[in-house]
Amino acid sequence: MSGLKTMVATAATPAWNEAEAAAIIASHRHREGPLLPILHAIQAAFGCVPPEAEPLIANALNLSRAEIHGVVTFYHDFRRKPAGRHVLKLCRAEACQSMGGEANAARLLATIGLDWGGTTPDGRLTIEPVYCLGLCANAPAALFDDMPVGRADAARLETLVREAA
Ligand code: FES
Repeated sequence: MSGLKTMVATAATPAWNEAEAAAIIASHRHREGPLLPILHAIQAAFGCVPPEAEPLIANALNLSRAEIHGVVTFYHDFRRKPAGRHVLKLCRAEACQSMGGEANAARLLATIGLDWGGTTPDGRLTIEPVYCLGLCANAPAALFDDMPVGRADAARLETLVREAA
C-alpha cells in the first residue's frame, strides 16, 4: 500500500482574488436567501470558501463573520481548502455503518495517512464524509468524483484510489 502514499502529481489551486469574490457576492446579494448561493458560487470559483471571503460576505449581507463561518462549517459541501483532483466521498450514515463502512473508511484513511476532509500532499485525492448517497441497498457506498460506488469494501476503495490518475 505504500504506493498510495507516494502519488506524485500537482493540483492547480485557484488563487484568491478579492475583486472576483466581490463581483460574485454583488451578483447574488439581492436574491432572496443569498447566502448559500453566494457560498456555492465562491466555492465554484475558488475551489473552496476561503477565510478571506467571510468578511466580504458578512459586510455585504449585514451579518457577522461568525454567522458566515457557522454556515460554512455546518454544511459538509463547503470546503475550507481546495479539494484534490479526485474526491472520494465515503458514506458514514447508518446503513453504510451497519455494513462496515466505518471500518473500511478508517482502514483507507490510515493507509493513505489522511483524516476526514484531508488531501494527499500531492493534491491528487481528497477524502470526505457524506451522510447517505441514496445507495443504501448497496451499502457500504461511496462516490468517486461523480461515479457512485456500491459494495465499497476496503479492497475496492484501495483499488479505486490506486488506479486513479
Ligand atoms: S446510508 Fe450510505 S448510502 Fe444511504
